[in-house]
Amino acid sequence: EPGSRVAMEDPGYTPARLLFAAQGADVASVPVDSEGIIVDQIPDNVCAIYVTPSHQMPLGMPMSLARRHALLEKARRIGAIIIEDDYDSEFRYEGRPTDSLQSMDEHGVVAYVGTFSKTLLPELRLGYAVLPAAIVEAVIKAKQLTDWHTSTLPQWALSKFISEGLLNKHIRRCHSTYAGRRERILSRIAGDLSPWLETIPCTAGFHMAVMLKASIDPAIDLHLLVERARDKALGLHPLHGFYSDATPRDGLMLGFGAIDLLDIDPALDRLRDLLMGFG
Ligand SMILES: Cc1ncc(COP(=O)(O)O)c(C=O)c1O
Repeated sequence: EPGSRVAMEDPGYTPARLLFAAQGADVASVPVDSEGIIVDQIPDNVCAIYVTPSHQMPLGMPMSLARRHALLEKARRIGAIIIEDDYDSEFRYEGRPTDSLQSMDEHGVVAYVGTFSKTLLPELRLGYAVLPAAIVEAVIKAKQLTDWHTSTLPQWALSKFISEGLLNKHIRRCHSTYAGRRERILSRIAGDLSPWLETIPCTAGFHMAVMLKASIDPAIDLHLLVERARDKALGLHPLHGFYSDATPRDGLMLGFGAIDLLDIDPALDRLRDLLMGFG
């Protein structure tokens, strides 16, 4: 509803922020720390809390179990719905998956949303939602008002693909490809890029956040780095664009969903040479 207040992580998924604002919502930006959204700083007057617990967008860390419990309790207390955007957790590389908020929810406060954009193709425009009973009717109405309904043919084909076990097979096959790319990037960052860069630990997905080390002396101007990289045909994506009210940290988002394994080293060589150039 226009005028409603919605809380989301800061930094967070910018398209979600823009979408809420476009619907007339007042978006409350809530800072995150190494455990995820800082629950104590979520205002009491929000009707929804949008979070990315498996793989915080953009920093990458998973939300801790303690924070998950605190968030569920807060949502219950203030009567808010949590929108759990689990956009890429099918690709997990380390450790046991943490329980989703939705599976921990005993009070019907979590709307779990997922997408096939990562496991299959963004072009499909197919996703899914597991909703608390209380909001099902409202969401169906909102969907009908948005585009009446999603094309049924791709939904039918996808349902067959899933029921024949082909989606799981596909995910298993892609997993080792993505894991190989991720390993390569991590080993370079722990190796020759370590004087300048450090990663935020993350266990899932297709991107990782790497931070410029605070100890670099003289400090590197991130904007200049991005500009110089562009001149060398290297696209760097700073984290600044994901911040709203919180002070941006100097870092980059490294995506490995689309890059070929063999292209990673030449790209990181170029980045290392640029970093060295700041002397
Ligand atoms: C946080 C987050 N949620 C959801 C999505 C997927 O969105 P869609 O299903 O609209 O392609 C993305 C894609 O990058 C994302 O980063």
